[in-house]
Amino acid sequence: MSNQDIESILKENRLFAPPSAFAEQACYPTDKLEALYAEAAEDNEAFWVARAREELDWHTPFTVGLDATDAPNYRWFTDGRLNVSYNCIDRHLDSRGDQIAIRFEGEQGDTRNLSYRQLHAEVCQFANALKALGARKGDRIIVYMPMVAEAVIAMQACARIGAVHSVVFGGFSAASLRDRIDDAQARFLITADGGRRGGGIVELKQAADDALAQSGGSVERVVVLQRTAHDVAMDPARDIWWHDAVTGQPEDCTPEWVEAEHPLFLLYTSGSTGKPKGIQHASAGYLLNGICTNRWVFDLKDGDVFWCTADVGWITGHSYVTYGPLAAGSTIVVYEGAPTVPDAGRFWRICEEHKVSIFYTAPTAIRALMKQGDEWPAQSDLSAIRLLGSVGEPINPEAWMWYHTVIGQERCPIVDTWWQTETGAIMMSPVPGVTATKPGSCTKPLPGIAAAIVDEEGQLIEDRDAGGYLVVTKPWPSMLRTVWGDNERYIDTYWAKFDNRYYVAGDSAHRDADGYFWIMGRIDDVLNVSGHRMGTMEVESALVAHPRVAEAAVVGRPHETKGESICAYVTCKGERPIGDEAEALTRELRDWVAQEIGAIAKPDDIRFADNLPKTRSGKIMRRLLRTIAKGEEITQDISTLENPAIVAQLQGHS
Ligand code: PRX
Repeated sequence: MSNQDIESILKENRLFAPPSAFAEQACYPTDKLEALYAEAAEDNEAFWVARAREELDWHTPFTVGLDATDAPNYRWFTDGRLNVSYNCIDRHLDSRGDQIAIRFEGEQGDTRNLSYRQLHAEVCQFANALKALGARKGDRIIVYMPMVAEAVIAMQACARIGAVHSVVFGGFSAASLRDRIDDAQARFLITADGGRRGGGIVELKQAADDALAQSGGSVERVVVLQRTAHDVAMDPARDIWWHDAVTGQPEDCTPEWVEAEHPLFLLYTSGSTGKPKGIQHASAGYLLNGICTNRWVFDLKDGDVFWCTADVGWITGHSYVTYGPLAAGSTIVVYEGAPTVPDAGRFWRICEEHKVSIFYTAPTAIRALMKQGDEWPAQSDLSAIRLLGSVGEPINPEAWMWYHTVIGQERCPIVDTWWQTETGAIMMSPVPGVTATKPGSCTKPLPGIAAAIVDEEGQLIEDRDAGGYLVVTKPWPSMLRTVWGDNERYIDTYWAKFDNRYYVAGDSAHRDADGYFWIMGRIDDVLNVSGHRMGTMEVESALVAHPRVAEAAVVGRPHETKGESICAYVTCKGERPIGDEAEALTRELRDWVAQEIGAIAKPDDIRFADNLPKTRSGKIMRRLLRTIAKGEEITQDISTLENPAIVAQLQGHS
């Protein structure tokens, strides 16, 4: 974020009181919420123990709350046993078996509703199919699927048998998929013949085949959902159609009662160094915060239709599509396609047709839809919506105001929710009906969440109106447990900076005079492109893997709709390309990155130079590159540059 942006955000002092009509019906009105805060303030561990007894159905009740013996590898509820899929589905069967659990809509308009009873039957059948293929508790299973109901079914089926799923976003390339398969040493892969997006077919099976051809060979069987029914290659010894796998399987499957700490899933995410890391979440603690936040933040109650637009390939799709809302007994909407197919009114028609009451999306989508004009939402009846949410990146006040007035019609509270893949669930957010909101602020930590700001020395900044590192000072149930296969990396990345005292989020934040938090962005080399996390180093490694590239440096640049876009500076082996050759190589490199990582990582801007700006000690001057990428005036000292003449070339002047 530029200094200008930060200043304008910090000058934002409009305050929106919770609408009284909402407050009157809220699950958590002020007194109830204050009681929760008071309980957590008295004893944080006891607070979560009480919630875990209230909200989860245990097969074997636990007696241990927090186990800190291996801190900072914290564990929760260790001697209890439960099953996450049982908690999401089975326990609702008596009271809401016929209620719709999933309302699915495909990009081409096909729809499918599944009641809790039907969901139970399909999850059980698929769980039995996985077992028949040889899957066992603890096996890693990759899910590489389009955003269809079966993606949720696959995840729930893994949870049911105690297998550890690792969902890979369908937009990731074969190479990214291969890396994740190999790192997780997955035995099974669940995919589809294709997905439908943007009017075309996403060739998932093809990418899966390519990934498996290059991988180390851990995958034994591949289950393929027929979604598009176009021609794909099937290896009879390895691949089996989903519909064949479930044929004849019973519609009941006794859940595997796993220990509370049994890993529920791995989800790979980017950091500042190395390849994406497998964030490992535990079963009970993860689910607990998922349920609690669905009640506190989304005010979920009977009759609500909750549409979280995130793909299950991201953490938001885990906690607010597959797990949290189902565990809370809600009805969810799952939409497969793009927001603008066939036109920019699609999202709003879905809201009308499915009577969506809670809508949760990312600022990048809000900005993109805002740009399309108010006439699109005006064509749909949005009166069922009562609550709006935002996640994934800072929301600029302009987009917040549009969301508030045009979509929320000034009637709906907006919950700007701050959290991360690692935190498992929302950490800071307004509680609708109680917290007055300010456009651009995620307001305050939720009950039981000890978010704080510290300075460079790790001293808590208790006085108001100050900024620093965002940390969490006490363990919470849905925190990540480790980095899969690399606990040292877990400690180095999240704890080492302040001697293992605090969880270090990697964001900087500011707290204003009212105690409201404002997220200022990442402190590391992590980009946020359209709400997707991306390591600059990942993109750089992809670029230098190209035969023509000698060196690459990648920085983020503010972008009107994406939040940030990727700008790459490249030096080539041989002559620096110019003119048509530069254009052709730019295209080639963009496609190359898409192939190496996925289309979301394509640089928007690639500039060729004879060399990169480095200090005399050989460090690339990233801050200078960021300034140049933004087209801003260079104010930093460039006299220490080894090659000052390069600046004009990077600016495109020579
Ligand atoms: O920088 C923060 C930003 O997204 C990062 C986490 O990314 P990821 O693990 O992919 O999870 C995204 C969805 C939970 C954070 O470190 N971020 C997330 N939510 C917000 C945010 N930045 C500002 N405001 C938010 N509400």
